[in-house]
Amino acid sequence: MNKSVRSTIIAGNWKMNMTPSAAKAAVAETAALVAGKTGCEVVLCVPFVDIAAAVEAAKGTNVKIGAQNVHFEAKGAFTGEIAADMLLECGVEYVIIGHSERRQYFGETDETVNKRTKAALAAGLKVILCLGEVLGERQSGITEEIVSMQTKLDLAGISAEDMKNVIIAYEPVWAIGTGLTATPEQAEEVCAIIRGVIAKLYDEKVAQATTIQYGGSMNDGNAAELLAKENVDGGLIGGASLVPAKFAKIVDAAQA
Ligand code: 13P
Repeated sequence: MNKSVRSTIIAGNWKMNMTPSAAKAAVAETAALVAGKTGCEVVLCVPFVDIAAAVEAAKGTNVKIGAQNVHFEAKGAFTGEIAADMLLECGVEYVIIGHSERRQYFGETDETVNKRTKAALAAGLKVILCLGEVLGERQSGITEEIVSMQTKLDLAGISAEDMKNVIIAYEPVWAIGTGLTATPEQAEEVCAIIRGVIAKLYDEKVAQATTIQYGGSMNDGNAAELLAKENVDGGLIGGASLVPAKFAKIVDAAQA
């Protein structure tokens, strides 16, 4: 089994950028540039308030819209939070969960990542589950232990059937927004480790079918060599996804 058994997914994470009017224009521009590129799925994960404009602009194109977080409860007194069925009704198909910025700045833990993932899957969303080591962990030589632990804790209680709707994004925290990209060999090594953990948790078939993206300063200059690696099935792109021409070049790199 190899890459052909799983989807390649190029996803943009706009983070806290773009007003609704800017989002409408950027989605339309991106959609025009990636039209007919069927070699990968194309997703843009936008701020909550941009969702309506983004979904409208993406209608009839091959761009899918994602959100950047979701709450684990279905409804209730959780001021400022957004539930999975709200996202679905707005036309959202994907949701990023456990991004390192949420883990670092907003108290996200493997336990809450797991709860959010379960809620999103139960509602019918596809989850882009982010994990990865911080610089000190890599320097201490414990990257394998950290990503293995995150994979196990974040996927606890999630069925093999539900894994069809889980994408893992390996995002080394030291590579995010720093311009420091993992080498293709580093990305390949850790994506393969994560796939191995999934094989142990489920079985080899589930592991081979799971899309594992790399994220962290991926851009139009380095995407091709990262995406060429056997276990790197796409990218989660921050900064470069804000510029449609750059993002479209990454989508091009995924057509091979
Ligand atoms: P950059 O591509 O800006 O490094 O961000 C990566 C990221 O965090 C995507 O989720």
